[in-house]
Amino acid sequence: MDRIDKIIASQSTNSRKEAQRLIKSGAVFINGEVCKKTDHKVDTEKDVIKVNGQVLNYSKHIYIMMNKPGGVVSATEDKLDKTVLDILPDNMKRNGLFPAGRLDKDTEGLLIITNDGEFAHRMLSPKKHVEKKYIAELDDEITESVIGKFEEGVVFSDGTKCMPAKLELYKNSKKTGLVTICEGKFHQVKKMFAVCGINVVHLKRISIGNLYLDSKLPIGCCKLLTNLDKELIFIGNIH
Ligand code: URA
Repeated sequence: MDRIDKIIASQSTNSRKEAQRLIKSGAVFINGEVCKKTDHKVDTEKDVIKVNGQVLNYSKHIYIMMNKPGGVVSATEDKLDKTVLDILPDNMKRNGLFPAGRLDKDTEGLLIITNDGEFAHRMLSPKKHVEKKYIAELDDEITESVIGKFEEGVVFSDGTKCMPAKLELYKNSKKTGLVTICEGKFHQVKKMFAVCGINVVHLKRISIGNLYLDSKLPIGCCKLLTNLDKELIFIGNIH
């Protein structure tokens, strides 16, 4: 059981104060009866809560797939640029959301936005070995030697050693790599190619674990993950 003001604030971008104002204004109904008590306790499993006539479908955690466009930053706030939270549709916005892992401003593709810290940690920790796949368009050709360096674990100029990574030609194009990594160092894919003397001209993440970016999801759009989608992130390689 939780306070109604807390529940309402947690499901929206309202502050607790704003939720309290809403309750006092008579906009909140519980099981068909108006509720003006801000500390009224509700059972989110059983009680039907309506706010402004709309049923509140309570969920503690929310998991969003975004097809991130270039030009927005993977942060919760930024003084200069639009963030991935700024471009969420209004019905998915709520307090406590953050991007689970960063894509560079110019990187596109699969980004998960959630308010579940434990889930994000499980997905991102290199120890958990969740594979992330990227398509990298390059300014030079991939050679056997580059593939070998990725396989051994690329070493950055500051001595940082990456975990072994897989590099394949994407659709047989020597200038497009399909890169699979299990970690997320800053600018990792770009730096791995840079060590090999190759520039990444376009980068897109296409999968996390076995969850693939929905090919029908337009750039800049979002959808909620199903329970199966969430499981796909963590189940062993089936591809
Ligand atoms: N590697 C990069 O270099 N950039 C990203 O955005 C993600 C992985």
